[in-house]
Amino acid sequence: MTAWNKKSLCLVSGASQGIGREIAIQFAGKLPSGSTIILTARSENGLNETSSLISKANSSIITKIFPYDMSNPKEKDFTSLLSAFSPNDWEQFILVHNAGTEGTGRPVKDCSNPEEWQKYMSLNLYSMVLLTSAFLKTFKNDEKTIIVNITSLAAVQAIAGFGEYCVGKASREMYMKVLSAESPSLRLLNYSPGPVGTDMVDRCISKIDFSETRGMFEKMKTEGTLVKAPDTVKKLVNIIESGLPAYLRVDYFDRD
Ligand SMILES: NC(=O)c1ccc[n+]([C@@H]2O[C@H](COP(=O)([O-])OP(=O)(O)OC[C@H]3O[C@@H](n4cnc5c(N)ncnc54)[C@H](OP(=O)(O)O)[C@@H]3O)[C@@H](O)[C@H]2O)c1
Repeated sequence: MTAWNKKSLCLVSGASQGIGREIAIQFAGKLPSGSTIILTARSENGLNETSSLISKANSSIITKIFPYDMSNPKEKDFTSLLSAFSPNDWEQFILVHNAGTEGTGRPVKDCSNPEEWQKYMSLNLYSMVLLTSAFLKTFKNDEKTIIVNITSLAAVQAIAGFGEYCVGKASREMYMKVLSAESPSLRLLNYSPGPVGTDMVDRCISKIDFSETRGMFEKMKTEGTLVKAPDTVKKLVNIIESGLPAYLRVDYFDRD
């Protein structure tokens, strides 16, 4: 039985737009009747829009929206959200850490404000750490649990103007590796979606302080070579379909 045949409780962060919305819609298209997808991000309107797109993709999927600001995360908030779902009702649990931001775009030597770092890491690292803890402690079923971290080339390659982003994404990947070493029954995936045409790329073009990095995004946008969200999420869906090992890292551009 593939992962997609199992009645699942799935949570997708950053589900109000962009890659997260597409993940929620495509996962909904694959999961069986009675599966539930929890959608979280700050924008209630965006979450409601994702929820109605899910209904169109698969009306047998139940959605719950959880408007929440991940820059001030608290484990008890996640625990109280998740404890409404009985661990016994599901054949599988899927947690997708997708919410994320690109940082200030300034040279890293000028990123010296501790409050700014604190806020950045709260949203981009601590929220996924606390949500993972709450998720695993609530459902206590590692054998049935898949965790996907949406990562980036920036986790493994230094990119000028992406100081906070590189540090945040590298930390998230290492968190996943340590989690795998300590909890080998989990199935953990670091998925790097490629440069995807979302609002994040537009913000990068407007704020990155390094012309080479900015120019790279501008060129991809003008030439139409940015990856499309449905294409990269399709690859993610197929990776999960093939069966996940305990730990895997895949980039969109890796050969199948
Ligand atoms: N686009 C790319 O080229 C690319 C490449 C590699 C990796 N990624 C990664 O893919 C993920 C999604 O990015 P995207 O391109 O889809 O960007 P996006 O369109 O800007 O979406 C970001 C998502 O994160 C949520 N978010 C932002 N701040 C938040 C906060 N304080 N609290 C809760 N949620 C928050 C946003 O929702 P609200 O604003 O409603 O809160 C939104 O749903 C990110 O982790 C990003 O690093 C993107």
